[in-house]
Amino acid sequence: MAHDDMSGKDITAVSSAGVSHETAAPGTAVIPSETFENPGFPAHRPRVTDTDPKAEKKAERQVYTFFYLSIVGSIFAIASYMAFPIEDGDTGALRLHTMMLGIGIVLALFGLGFGAVHWSKSLMANHEGIDQRHPVRGSEETRARAVEIFKQANEESGFGRRTLVRNTLLGALVAFPLPAVVLFRGWGPQNENPVEMLEHTMWKKGARLTLDPSGLPIKASDVTLGSAFHVIPEGLNESEHRLEEKAKASVLLMRLDPSKLKESAERTGWSYDGIVAYSKICTHVGCPVALYEQQTHHLLCPCHQSTFDVTEECKVIFGPAKRALPQLPIAVDGEGYLIAQSDFHEPVGPSFWERSSS
Ligand code: FES
Repeated sequence: MAHDDMSGKDITAVSSAGVSHETAAPGTAVIPSETFENPGFPAHRPRVTDTDPKAEKKAERQVYTFFYLSIVGSIFAIASYMAFPIEDGDTGALRLHTMMLGIGIVLALFGLGFGAVHWSKSLMANHEGIDQRHPVRGSEETRARAVEIFKQANEESGFGRRTLVRNTLLGALVAFPLPAVVLFRGWGPQNENPVEMLEHTMWKKGARLTLDPSGLPIKASDVTLGSAFHVIPEGLNESEHRLEEKAKASVLLMRLDPSKLKESAERTGWSYDGIVAYSKICTHVGCPVALYEQQTHHLLCPCHQSTFDVTEECKVIFGPAKRALPQLPIAVDGEGYLIAQSDFHEPVGPSFWERSSS
């Protein structure tokens, strides 16, 4: 007898034959009778590969040919990537590159897919089975049975026995991710050390602080108390890799009451009359820290709400960031324009650097 958790009463279940919802006693579950008979399995029909050894052999050849094709596709994708490079501004080259790469990857994927499906449909054991529902927790007998099934599956699929099929499948699976490795490596800097490139920005001694995006230099007298500027280094707009450089060198410039700034001894002279410059790249995962709350002097990253206190060298006061925003030491040149004293003294961006340099 079932139990209703809500009411705490026992529930009687009856067949619907001769009983309706109206006539059944309250609290009685009415179970509808079967409306059709279980037709069972259709008669078993053996496949041609079950009865004809020649057909079986042929199917096996087809399966490993598909896996070979997949390997060829993967190699073709790598070769095409190198043989048909993307030339700057040449859309024809780009189209050819994409097409050849696509052909290779399609061959690799289809070879794997067709091979696997053909193998299971024509060579693996062909019989119907019933798997009864059972409790999730497995008993010792269940586990033993699982091992038995595994061995049976191995035997019936021929995974251990058909070594050529198995090995070509493994080869195809190993070769398949290789185009992705080559592709991702191609996106990175060539002939240069990426760590070195990330460690340095365009800022250098004497570089003027300019407005983003116009590139106009900023005079210290333009930066009024409470204001904030989005800043890029002088010459960035003319740089060959403008976006990459901007992603590292973007800076926020703010002017505070100098008495509010708590500067450590080693950073004495890094600010100018209450004007401070900090990297705009969040030390969590690199979003631009774009929101400045001038009443509290807090910088807020909109991605995951990391908050930095500008009065205390942009230390983290809230959120997932683990490291203060790097400060750009600034000064003023003879014409009153703001200039950098040097590059940042630490890498900008995510806290990965803290771990990698320790
Ligand atoms: S990227 Fe700034 S808080 Fe996550």
